Amino acid sequence: MQTIDTEVYRVWDRGVRGFHWINLVSMLGLLGTGLVIYNGKTLGISGDGKVFLKELHVWCGYVFVANLAWRMVQGFTGSHFARWGTILRLDRQYVRELRNYLGSLRDKDRRSYLGHNPLGRLMVIALLLLMTLQAITGLVLAGTDLYYPPLGAWIANWVAASGVDPSTLLPGDKSMVDTTAWDEMRTFRGPFIFLHEQVFFVLMGATVLHIAGVVVAEFKERNGLISAMITGEKRLVKPPVDLPRASEADTDAV
Ligand code: HEM
Repeated sequence: MQTIDTEVYRVWDRGVRGFHWINLVSMLGLLGTGLVIYNGKTLGISGDGKVFLKELHVWCGYVFVANLAWRMVQGFTGSHFARWGTILRLDRQYVRELRNYLGSLRDKDRRSYLGHNPLGRLMVIALLLLMTLQAITGLVLAGTDLYYPPLGAWIANWVAASGVDPSTLLPGDKSMVDTTAWDEMRTFRGPFIFLHEQVFFVLMGATVLHIAGVVVAEFKERNGLISAMITGEKRLVKPPVDLPRASEADTDAV
């Protein structure tokens, strides 16, 4: 049997790997509960059932938001390939690299990357932006629909009928709200639910593309892309073109 010489390189630190898998699990929870809420009428779910599903969705959402916020911080504190300075560097050198990479796609001997390849990097930026937008609209909806933090107390104050203690308002119960204030609040909510639905579809499309891209790259490049998200290490046949200089590399990358 022919053996291929590979070299092992550290790439993803614990923070990035932890973020990735917590993100996957919380997104599956959000996707599952979100789809049931979206099809609630067709599925015959109403009243308490819908409120329960929204509560479950929002708790998954808090895990998702906390994890995303933690990843934002790691962009400043993490190792070389976790940093915003590496991910968001879309300068002339990046454009040249993207051209070279696209040009090498048909070659058997593709360019080798330790971090994201130039296409993968664009996808990661798109995913992080979409997730941030989804987190912001979701947090607003948690207030308008359930009176949950961060905006729940403010929304409850806004819509409570006079003489009603805002903290006693229950999700879905309109008997203690001021109808004019309620209608205004629903108008305010409109753009957020619209964005939350639209971004959901785009995000799902982007996630499918991301997974397809990873699987194709794993088969074509055979550099342990998927296992690297578990072990933190890639096995490369040839030296990567994006190997950090000694001054940029971190010894605590894994
Ligand atoms: C990847 C992230 C997310 C996905 C894919 C997602 C998906 C969805 C979907 C499909 C719906 C149903 C929309 C509809 O009924 O028209 C929904 C509703 C909702 N989402 Fe999310 N969501 C995400 C993140 C969040 C977050 C972070 C929160 C808050 C912490 C949140 C809070 C809500 C609330 C309160 C609703 C109910 C809105 C309603 O239909 O009345 N979501 N979400």
